[in-house]
Amino acid sequence: PPYTAFSERLPVPRVLRPVSSLGDTDVYELPMQHAKAEFFPGRPAPVLTFGGQFIGPTIRAKAGRRVKVRYVNRLDRAATVHLHGGHVPPGSDGFPMDLIEPGASRVFDYPNRQQGATLWYHDHTCAKEAEHVYRGLAGFYLIEGRDEAALRLPRGAYDVPIMIRDARFDENGGMIFEPSPLPTTLHVNGRQKPYFPVDARKYRFRVLNATLHRNIELYLGGLDMVQIASDGGLLPEPLPRKKILIVPGERVEIVVDFSAQAIGSKLVLTDVCDGADEPVMRFDVARRAFDPSRVPGRLRELPALPAATVERDVKLSFSPSGEEFAINDKTFDPNRVDTRIVEGTTEIWRVTNTDPAETPFGPVNHTFHMHLVPFRVLDRNGEPPLPGENGLKDTVLVRPGETVRVQATFSGYKGRYLYHCHLQEHSDIGMMAQMEIV
Ligand code: C2O
Ligand code: CU
Repeated sequence: PPYTAFSERLPVPRVLRPVSSLGDTDVYELPMQHAKAEFFPGRPAPVLTFGGQFIGPTIRAKAGRRVKVRYVNRLDRAATVHLHGGHVPPGSDGFPMDLIEPGASRVFDYPNRQQGATLWYHDHTCAKEAEHVYRGLAGFYLIEGRDEAALRLPRGAYDVPIMIRDARFDENGGMIFEPSPLPTTLHVNGRQKPYFPVDARKYRFRVLNATLHRNIELYLGGLDMVQIASDGGLLPEPLPRKKILIVPGERVEIVVDFSAQAIGSKLVLTDVCDGADEPVMRFDVARRAFDPSRVPGRLRELPALPAATVERDVKLSFSPSGEEFAINDKTFDPNRVDTRIVEGTTEIWRVTNTDPAETPFGPVNHTFHMHLVPFRVLDRNGEPPLPGENGLKDTVLVRPGETVRVQATFSGYKGRYLYHCHLQEHSDIGMMAQMEIV
């Protein structure tokens, strides 16, 4: 259907209220349910949701304060939920075969014994994850760090989560799910090319690329976007950037200062990745406002990097048959443990993408994601990491021919966890493996 850009306001997902709070625990209830979303105004399309909205409500947690979520499955199919970036016990990690059946519910335990960061929750059903997440099963989970308030970063209404998704639509405005590298249309918090009225002051935006397989490079007409955080929370220091690449599964937090902009000016945020020039959304500077926020020159000390005692090779490539995707030439088997790790050990993984740089659809990129623990990016083909990769990460781009070395310390829990490519169409057809922490 025809669509007029910048005709709809950016929705900010509602913040979920706990159903009860006892001691140091907040308890939430979150149904998975069928609902309608209007990607084209006046054309409601069926979607799968958390809490009835595309995208799901935001859970705001605090480091050190436990959250329990009862997920109630009111869908017509089994599903499960993974907290991406969460340091959680294995039974609450959303294992892809351990599903919540329709009509059933399950309580997941999120202790939040971790640093403040922008996390997100999403479906993780075996072989169905790409479709379920695409159709709407995703939302934000934000952890506020212990000392974060003292930094005086923009907060409250000036701290806005932005989920960039993509879709293909039929003539009625419904979503078409068809795994393929065909071009898609971007939407933000469930609206295509929305506008967002802003005050002439600083904002904190938590940007997540939740597309199926599209790299996005943000550009704000030459205005500085000051990166303050990556997947695992605050960077050591702020990093002003004109362009920011975000790959599927990754989060980037930026502070944008609109105070030098004239009232009435409109700034378009565009995706300029690989020569693209597609508007993502628009900021409309509406009025002057008092701004007590700031961006300190030091944001935090990163935890020390203990010496690694184990090194491993992780190869991402087409499967030997050429029809699936594989890790170290094996496609996912829920009954096989691929990697055994002694709890507390620090390891370096050399993650290599051996797939072709040239195909009719462009390069075969992968984005490597590890459950349970964040990692540090040490280098790419021996060169320094990309800008913004010097903090804690859990998802990282690995381009064809690249070897990215990451280092992680596997502490906190024992049990089985996944690592996989976060292009969900790849993990759905094999590019996923299991580690067991023993
Ligand atoms: Cu968002 Cu197993 O991942
Ligand atoms: Cu992949």
